[in-house]
Amino acid sequence: MSEQQSIKKGRVILAPMEGVLDPPLREILTAVNQYDLCVTEFVRVVDQLLTKKTLLRLCPELEQGGKTRSGTPVRVQLLGQHPQWLAENAILATEMGSPGIDINFGCPAKRVNQSCGGAALLKEPETIYQILKTVRAALPANQLLSAKVRLGWSSPEECYEIIDAVIQGGAGELSIHARTKEDGYKSDAIKWEWIQRVRNRIPVPLIANGEIWSFNDAVKCQMLSGCDDLMVGRGALQLPNLGAVITQQQAPMSWDQVYQLLLEYIEISLSQPRSDYISSRVKQWLVFLKQQYDEAADLFRSVRTFHDTAAFVDQIKASKA
Ligand SMILES: Cc1cc2nc3c(=O)[nH]c(=O)nc-3n(C[C@H](O)[C@H](O)[C@H](O)COP(=O)(O)O)c2cc1C
Repeated sequence: MSEQQSIKKGRVILAPMEGVLDPPLREILTAVNQYDLCVTEFVRVVDQLLTKKTLLRLCPELEQGGKTRSGTPVRVQLLGQHPQWLAENAILATEMGSPGIDINFGCPAKRVNQSCGGAALLKEPETIYQILKTVRAALPANQLLSAKVRLGWSSPEECYEIIDAVIQGGAGELSIHARTKEDGYKSDAIKWEWIQRVRNRIPVPLIANGEIWSFNDAVKCQMLSGCDDLMVGRGALQLPNLGAVITQQQAPMSWDQVYQLLLEYIEISLSQPRSDYISSRVKQWLVFLKQQYDEAADLFRSVRTFHDTAAFVDQIKASKA
């Protein structure tokens, strides 16, 4: 497919990625791309009301009108199985200013599924329905409730029931990661065409997600899914200006520009209350970046053994010099 093919005008949304796409990284990526929306990492709801402090750690943007400094709205994502507790926490996040509430029904992590949240609920459409219905009823009418699902647990055929549960439950927007839980992250298991099959059952804005790494992937995903709105996750980490590459056909960033972003990420992270995990977060980002930039692989090798934050940061700066 050639780059001459045009992209349809739609939203491009930054996906939630727990343990990776943290507030400093949102800050960086929304400054260099015009993402229409970010969704926070999930926060797990069990059987109590989260503290405001927890929600602010998850989404410090709540203190600045629910937007990153560059103005991109950031929506809180909740994960859990108890309708009433999810509703209580959705009310709290709403009162704190979250632009919409997203519920995660797609996380495949074992520790999440053992506690029956995330993708485990794909096997229980009735629970999905109960959760959304309860949360919807608890929220003010003008607060958007959205859901994020995979196509199913083991088969995409399961998506019909799942989607009916989401719509009848009252979600006002839906993101579909076009794989099943059992597909994991296998790239050849992506099923954008399944979104097209169910499109006409979904009377609310629909967002296609999964395996969008480039402009061409974005065009192909729109074509096969019939969906103009796209959500990008890992691709946005590999190519930090992926949003602008898709919407403005910007050239991929140079390594020098990416290196500056790494320094900014470190700078912002150092100003956060908990900066002890910077070295692991930067290494994690480098692992994504090295798919796109050979220099990231070199930098990763040179900092791999550094753990102490100060020594790590010195090494990052020295490596470039
Ligand atoms: C490390 C990691 C963390 C993730 N965390 C979340 C999460 O907190 N909430 C969620 O709904 N999805 C989460 N996802 C799924 C992504 O939002 C997205 O659906 C998936 O990565 C497919 O999109 P991509 O191919 O563009 O990466 C996560 C994915 C990864 C790889």
